[in-house]
Amino acid sequence: MNTSFQSKVSFVTGAAGGIGFATARAFAEAGAAVAIAGDNEEAAKTAAETLTKAGHRAIGLRCDVSDESQVAAAIAETVSAFGRLDAAYNNAGIHAPSVETADALAEDFDRVIAVNLRGVWNCMKHELRQMRKQGGGVIVNCSSQSGLAGIAGLGAYTASKHGVIGLTKAAALEYARRGIRINAICPGTVSTPMVERAMADHPAEMRAVIDDIPLGRMGTPEEIASAVLWLCSPGAAFMIGQIVAPDGGYTAR
Ligand SMILES: NC(=O)c1ccc[n+]([C@@H]2O[C@H](COP(=O)([O-])OP(=O)(O)OC[C@H]3O[C@@H](n4cnc5c(N)ncnc54)[C@H](O)[C@@H]3O)[C@@H](O)[C@H]2O)c1
Repeated sequence: MNTSFQSKVSFVTGAAGGIGFATARAFAEAGAAVAIAGDNEEAAKTAAETLTKAGHRAIGLRCDVSDESQVAAAIAETVSAFGRLDAAYNNAGIHAPSVETADALAEDFDRVIAVNLRGVWNCMKHELRQMRKQGGGVIVNCSSQSGLAGIAGLGAYTASKHGVIGLTKAAALEYARRGIRINAICPGTVSTPMVERAMADHPAEMRAVIDDIPLGRMGTPEEIASAVLWLCSPGAAFMIGQIVAPDGGYTAR
């Protein structure tokens, strides 16, 4: 199986840390040039520097995915720096505080939908404009195990991640015959700063979530990155509009 991304160009959002950075590094180590896009410009540039110091081609870009003009600009900068866009991983996402629906705040709901759902739509739209022009490309959208099952207390997050699956399937069908493949990934609980924050805020609930993983442990960012790279590789050429769940068996029940 060919998993080389030599002379390819990748774009990863929310890539200054966590799963996004692990994926950016995996693309770089497989030979791709990488654009690291994040809401915190300094953190994105520092992450890119880590890769360039290791001998890879990388740039760090300011890109709040909820802002369509920033997304358009970041993709244009990527193409201007590296000439094209072959693989995009729309990873950026946020949690809102865990709260039952009757007590949830409208502003928290709106922000989660703006980043997790509208953000993926913004990114796909501008990635697809470039890929359509080139006549090919691959996109992976980040959903979650919460895109496949309800999670009590996380209504907006759960809705946003279910929505990502819908966007993925619709767009995948639109471009299936035009050389552009679009799939989604549904990670289970993965050890990242997002989960560390949840552990600090709700230790008992998070302990129960981890104990409930059939494999008996959390995933690592690298385990999610390797699934994303496979979906972007020629080995996954027959995968269109699919939902892949590296989740330690969580959604197997
Ligand atoms: N960690 C898990 O257990 C888990 C499980 C399922 C799904 N996910 C999803 O995986 C993705 C990455 O999660 P993570 O755990 O690495 O999170 P994280 O919080 O560790 O990292 C997320 C990154 O996204 C950036 N970001 C936040 N808002 C942004 C915005 N508006 N625009 C651009 N960048 C933004 C943050 O600065 C950060 O660098 C998210 O979409 C998350 O919902 C995570």
